[in-house]
Amino acid sequence: MAHNSTKLGLITMAQHIIEGQRAHPTATGEFSWLLSGITLATKIIESNVRRAGLVDVLGDTGTVNVQGEEVQKLDEVANEAIIRCLGYRGNVGIVASEEDDEPITIKEAGPAARYIVLFVPLDRSSNIDVNVTIGTIFSILQRRGDVSGWDGPTPHVLQPGLKQVAAGYVVYGSSTVAALTTGNGVDMFTLDPEIGAYVLTRKNVKMPSDGKSYSCNEAYKATFPEGYQRYLDWAKSEEAGNYTLRYIGSLVADFHRTLLRGGVFLYPPTLKQPEGKLRLMYEANPLSFVAEQAGGAAVDGKQRIMEKQPNSLHQRTPLIIGSKQEVDRVMKFMSR
Ligand code: AHG
Repeated sequence: MAHNSTKLGLITMAQHIIEGQRAHPTATGEFSWLLSGITLATKIIESNVRRAGLVDVLGDTGTVNVQGEEVQKLDEVANEAIIRCLGYRGNVGIVASEEDDEPITIKEAGPAARYIVLFVPLDRSSNIDVNVTIGTIFSILQRRGDVSGWDGPTPHVLQPGLKQVAAGYVVYGSSTVAALTTGNGVDMFTLDPEIGAYVLTRKNVKMPSDGKSYSCNEAYKATFPEGYQRYLDWAKSEEAGNYTLRYIGSLVADFHRTLLRGGVFLYPPTLKQPEGKLRLMYEANPLSFVAEQAGGAAVDGKQRIMEKQPNSLHQRTPLIIGSKQEVDRVMKFMSR
């Protein structure tokens, strides 16, 4: 059952993680130290997001990233903040960002640094110019023990989502909320600007098992595979009854709403993006881990997202994620 903060007292994310680790006698505190690096970076990002327009972080840098997208000034600020904060943790050996072509080995940390952090520094950063919610997404893996020799970071990074040891996101909305799973359910923390700390506000979050809401950019519907089109036509039919469409255009915001209210988010293959637009390693996998830990589901139209064996860091995937019953319903239209 989710509890609200008044019942939980003031428990910071750091306290919560350390208490959670006490349940694991072998825990060394390394993990909580790593997560504190991520939360520190998101506080730096949040302070820039809140002052966008007052400090020079609006607009683009005039450069294009590996995705072929214009890099927003805030993308660079966010990317640097995360790499800098994680770089000094000592236990993070590899970072992989949506913004960078290749994974980065943190040489100062040395080969014993077992954690790998993949992240989207700022999802849909272009929305900042129009004051719409944006977010940060992160996924945490560990170096593989079966990778012989030292042929660079990529073989360590390309692991299926099932190997994640933790994942989460931060949504910079009307308040700044972090959602985190380490494999024992999903907890949410709200950044209290008065004390500069993330405070536990929802414990053991469960996604509603169904929800009459779908989230999809229907402008591309004509180029979706037929199964998706059949589902969308059904959702608008009398038989379905009162489905609503909600679409913010920031994955983190659309997912956060789906996690709390139920429903389904879909980004199908399109003519322009036949593999789908969203990236497997640092968008679909972390949000799928959160979704499943909250009782939801996440597939690519054929298989469970977290079972997919990645071939490349920036590979894309179709994504259907949300309430278990709604995801199952979409899948029924795939097979008709
Ligand atoms: P980008 O970071 O390249 O702007 O893309 C953001 C993603 C994701 O946040 C969102 O769900 C999706 O793009 C929206 O794509 P459309 O604009 O095609 O609907």
